[in-house]
Formats: sequence, C-alpha cells, structure tokens
Amino acid sequence: MHVNLLRRSLVHFKPLFPALLSVLFLVLTMRLASAEVTAAAGEKIFKQYCTSCHKAAPFDAKLVGPALKDVEKRRSEEWLIKWIRNNAQLRASGDKDAIAIWTEYGKNEMPSFASFSDDEIKSILAYIANPPVAAAPVAGQPGGATQGAPSAGSSVWLYLILGVLLIIFVMLVRANRTLKRMTIAKDGHELEEEKPWSKRLTSAKAWALYGLILVFLAGWTITDSAIRLGHSKNYTPPQPIAFPHDLHAGTLQINCLYCHAGAEKSKVAGIPAVSTCMNCHKGVQQGETEAGTAEIQKIYAAYENNRPIQWVKIHNLPDHVYFNHSQHVTVGKIQCQTCHGPVEKMKTMYQFASLSMGWCLNCHRQTEVNFQGNEYYTMYTELHEKVKQDTSYAVTEAMVGGTGCQKCHY
Ligand code: HEC
Ligand code: HEC
Ligand code: HEC
Ligand code: HEC
Ligand code: HEC
Ligand code: HEC
Repeated sequence: MHVNLLRRSLVHFKPLFPALLSVLFLVLTMRLASAEVTAAAGEKIFKQYCTSCHKAAPFDAKLVGPALKDVEKRRSEEWLIKWIRNNAQLRASGDKDAIAIWTEYGKNEMPSFASFSDDEIKSILAYIANPPVAAAPVAGQPGGATQGAPSAGSSVWLYLILGVLLIIFVMLVRANRTLKRMTIAKDGHELEEEKPWSKRLTSAKAWALYGLILVFLAGWTITDSAIRLGHSKNYTPPQPIAFPHDLHAGTLQINCLYCHAGAEKSKVAGIPAVSTCMNCHKGVQQGETEAGTAEIQKIYAAYENNRPIQWVKIHNLPDHVYFNHSQHVTVGKIQCQTCHGPVEKMKTMYQFASLSMGWCLNCHRQTEVNFQGNEYYTMYTELHEKVKQDTSYAVTEAMVGGTGCQKCHY
C-alpha cells in the first residue's frame, strides 16, 4: 500500500525532471565557461594588466610598449606564451627576436606574468586578434551611465535561474497538495471538490493578499524616498565631456591632486581648468576609441573658444553645512577613496557616499585623530593625561568636539 502510494506520488514529480535538468545544465555551463579560451576573458585580463603600457583595442599605437595589432601574425603562439609569461627568461635563453625587441624599446623591461595559465594567455591573444566591437555610446549619456550595473548577460542568467526555481516551487506546492488529498482519500474521507484557478485567484483570501502586497510596496517606497530626501547617493549626471576617471586616475595613474590640487590646501578640491587638460591633450589627440577621440575634440573646442567646460557638480552639501577638504585630507590623512569610493575604477563619476549627517558623525565617532604632538589639541588637558597614563588610549574625532553642532553648521 505504502509503496503504491509512493510510486503514484512520484508520478507527480515527473514534470520536475526537465526543470532540475536545466538547472544542472546551467550550473555546468557556467563552470565550463570560466575555463574556456575566450576573447572576452582575454579582454578582462588585458585591461587589468596590460593597458598601462600597451594601447587597448584597436592596438594601433605605441605607448610604453609596442602596438600589439597583428602581433599573432608576427610571432608564433609558442613564442608569445613564453614571452608574456617570462620575457627575461626568453631573452636569457638567447632568443634573437626577444633580444631585438627589447633593444628596440631601450631595454625597457616588461614585467613577467608567471602566474598566467596557457588558457589565460591564449585568451589575451584571442582578444588581440579579435577584439569585441565596442558599442556606440548612447546619445546624451556620454560614456554610458551603465557604470557599476551588472552586465546584461549575468542578470539574464539570474532571472532564468530565479524563473526555474519559481517553477520548481509551484510544482512542489502542487505535488504536496495532491499527496495530501491522496492521504485524505486513502483514509476514506470525502474529498472536497477542487476549485478552479479562476475562482481561487478572485477569492476573498486572494484579494486580501493583493491588498497586503500593495500596502507593503507603498510603505517601502515612501520610507525609502523619505530617507533619501535631499540625499543623492549614486547621483550620476551626464557631463559635457565624457571624462573617464578610470583611464586617467587608474590606467594612466595621474595623481588626484594634479587635477584637484585644492583638496590638499583649501576647503574645496576644485575642478581642473581646460588648460590643465591641454597640458597633455596638446599631444594626445586620439582616444582609446573613436568616441573617445570625439570627446577629446570637445576639449579643443572649449580651449580655442576660450570657454570653460560646464561640468555638472555632483557632490552638493546644503548651504548650512561647513566641510573642509584640507582638514580631512592633509590633517586627518584620509584617502580620497574613503569618501569618494573607487574613483580610479569609475568610467563615469558618481556620488559614492550619502553625504548625510549620520555619515559624517559615524566617521567622527570611529576615527582616531593624531592626538599627540598636535598643537591644535593642546587645550584638551584631561585627554592628554589619559593618553599619558595609558598609551593605548585612543582619541576619536568625536572626543575632540567632532560631534558639536557648531563645528559643521554655520
Ligand atoms: C610596464 C609596462 C608593460 C606592461 C605592464 C606590459 N608590457 Fe608588454 N611590453 C612592454 C615593453 C616595453 C615591450 C617591448 C619589449 C621590451 O622592451 O621588453 C613589450 C612587448 C610586448 C610584446 C612583444 C611585442 C612584439 O612586437 O613582439 C607582447 C606580445 C607584449 N608585450 C604583451 C603584453 C601583455 C599581454 C601584457 C599584459 C599581460 C603586457 N605586455 C604588459 C611593456 C609592458
Ligand atoms: C586628469 C584630471 C583628473 C584626475 C587625475 C582626477 N580627476 Fe576627478 N575630476 C576631473 C574632472 C574633469 C571632473 C569633472 C567631471 C566629472 O565629474 O567626471 C572630476 C570630478 C571629480 C569628482 C566629482 C566632483 C563633483 O562634481 O562633485 C570627484 C569626487 C573626483 N573627481 C575625485 C577624484 C579622485 C579621488 C581622483 C584620484 C583618484 C581624481 N578625481 C582624479 C578631473 C580629474
Ligand atoms: C597627464 C596627462 C593627461 C591629462 C592632464 C588629461 N588627460 Fe585625457 N588622456 C590622456 C591620455 C594619455 C589619453 C589617451 C589614452 C589612450 O589613448 O589610451 C587620454 C584620453 C582622454 C579621453 C578619451 C577617453 C577614451 O575613452 O578614449 C578623454 C575624453 C580625455 N582624455 C579627457 C580629458 C579631460 C577633459 C582632461 C582635463 C580635465 C584630461 N583628459 C586631462 C592624458 C591626459
Ligand atoms: C572626509 C571625506 C572626504 C575626503 C577624504 C575627500 N572628500 Fe572630496 N568631497 C567630500 C564632500 C563632503 C564633498 C562635497 C563638498 C560640498 O558640497 O561642499 C566633496 C567634494 C569634492 C569635489 C567637488 C568639488 C568641491 O571641492 O566641492 C571634488 C573634486 C573632490 N571632493 C575631490 C576629492 C579628492 C581629489 C580627494 C582626495 C585628495 C577628496 N575629495 C577627499 C568629502 C571628502
Ligand atoms: C572618513 C571619515 C570622515 C568623514 C566621512 C567625515 N569626517 Fe570630518 N573629520 C574626520 C577626521 C579624522 C577629522 C579630524 C582631522 C584632524 O584634525 O586631525 C575631521 C574633522 C572635521 C572637522 C573639524 C573638527 C574640529 O575639531 O575642528 C569638521 C568641521 C568636519 N570634520 C566636518 C565634516 C563634515 C561636515 C562631514 C560630512 C559631510 C565630515 N566631516 C565627514 C573624519 C571624517
Ligand atoms: C560632522 C558634521 C556635523 C555635525 C557635528 C552636526 N551636523 Fe547636522 N548636518 C550635517 C550634514 C552634512 C547635514 C546635511 C545632510 C543631511 O541633510 O542629512 C546636516 C543637516 C542637519 C539638519 C537639517 C536636516 C535636514 O534634513 O535638512 C539639522 C536640523 C541639523 N543638521 C542639526 C544638527 C544639530 C542639532 C547638531 C548637533 C547636535 C548637528 N546637526 C551636528 C553635519 C553635521
């Protein structure tokens, strides 16, 4: 009897098999994809390790190292793998080509990448031979505001998996119901007639559920926007020129202070003038892409017409708040990134922190100040006594008045 029941209930799980199989398939293909040789994987590695010295797609200009266009035609794959993994070793082995190019580039040594697998190097070579075509930026949104968003590809997978899980869930609930009904029938009770779906979806119970969901969503939206009122975390306005911080501060490693010199010495960090851009762009007329070159042309237009570039200000504290950069950067020795996020990775600049009062206060409560030998704090005699008695005693910004209203409010 029991066996019979089990076999009959298994029939109800049968529709689950395709769903389970597809989940398995998804997981497997995702694992396999990571070990494959693909131009996309190569692009990632190239951008992380190589663009500081080699021009990225279309690889047609010298930077520190040679232009890599058609390198796969100039050299054998075997040679390239050896070169990229450890070029010094290849030269030491007496390879004439390796010694020749090294001499041509002023004996300027390329680093070795000994940890790269063959597949990783082949991926880089696949990328150099066949770079994916860059999508044109959307009009009105220079540089594309897709910064930080997960790639479309990965979210499609996510939704697929969620969909499959939902189907499995519904099926399990149904199978469970059927099993229950079967046990009731087995015990010889009367079976209630099963209501059709159309009836169930419009029953009083269902309406109550819809109402509940609606109230929850409305409450959520209202609280969320109330908290954010006046706060613009993630604010990413389009700029007149698609200026990429990742390229300048990341790849080219230009110091933040080269363009934002005020941050060290004054209240405001400031935005660089056109002439600062021209220090380099007199010489650099080509971008990484055609779109980049067009953006650089806009610098010339502004320079020649003697017109400032109308950058849109992203960070805006209300007028009643006093904030001073040099106090934090020079005295407090706080990194720009602590407050502005991973700027050297941002293609388009956005507001990283909320700039709320709670944000300022939290940091003042947690951050220790450089207390000893700091004349600014000589008036805190009591704290000095404590520090003398217990050298591990830490003085936070809050203890020296960093939460006093008048410190931040005019
Ligand atoms: C610090 C600068 C630097 C980095 C980073 C760098 N290279 Fe190089 N690369 C050079 C220089 C300079 C040369 C020219 C040869 C020499 O002087 O050693 C070169 C030469 C090459 C060559 C030979 C080109 C030819 O025409 O034969 C290849 C291929 C190459 N690099 C690939 C790469 C790859 C792939 C990466 C990233 C994994 C990379 N390089 C990272 C500086 C660099
Ligand atoms: C080559 C010049 C240059 C360098 C180097 C540079 N920036 Fe900028 N920065 C700009 C320009 C131009 C803008 C205005 C356009 C924009 O917002 O993208 C800007 C805007 C900003 C803003 C937003 C200002 C606002 O409107 O509120 C922050 C924050 C910032 N930069 C931080 C940094 C940090 C941190 C670094 C170093 C990691 C850095 N920048 C390096 C040129 C530069
Ligand atoms: C210290 C030198 C230097 C300064 C200063 C500088 N740039 Fe650049 N910039 C470069 C170099 C080098 C490239 C090209 C890199 C390449 O082709 O890979 C570049 C590329 C660009 C690009 C094209 C990006 C792309 O996607 O191809 C834009 C736009 C740009 N810069 C804008 C600016 C603006 C605006 C300023 C002033 C606020 C500025 N740059 C200041 C060195 C500089
Ligand atoms: C303690 C947090 C903090 C640190 C550290 C910090 N900033 Fe800021 N930054 C801010 C705040 C807050 C604003 C908004 C100021 C306003 O609206 O008055 C801002 C504004 C800016 C602006 C917009 C122009 C301006 O001056 O208002 C730039 C550019 C900028 N910061 C660059 C930098 C750079 C570069 C560094 C590192 C050298 C840095 N910041 C370090 C908090 C910080
Ligand atoms: C990441 C940490 C951090 C954040 C965020 C931060 N601060 Fe500060 N702040 C400090 C530190 C550290 C000092 C003490 C610097 C020193 O004098 O040694 C300081 C000092 C100050 C002072 C001077 C206080 C005095 O004793 O004279 C003012 C004013 C101030 N901050 C305002 C602000 C405002 C306004 C904000 C938010 C918009 C803010 N800070 C956000 C770390 C922070
Ligand atoms: C470390 C800096 C700092 C200190 C200390 C500080 N505030 Fe603020 N306060 C801010 C900042 C930044 C804002 C604006 C951001 C916001 O609206 O949340 C603000 C906003 C406000 C507002 C306006 C709120 C709104 O929603 O517009 C009031 C009121 C206020 N603070 C009162 C106080 C009082 C009272 C104290 C003393 C107990 C105090 N603050 C101490 C930084 C500070």
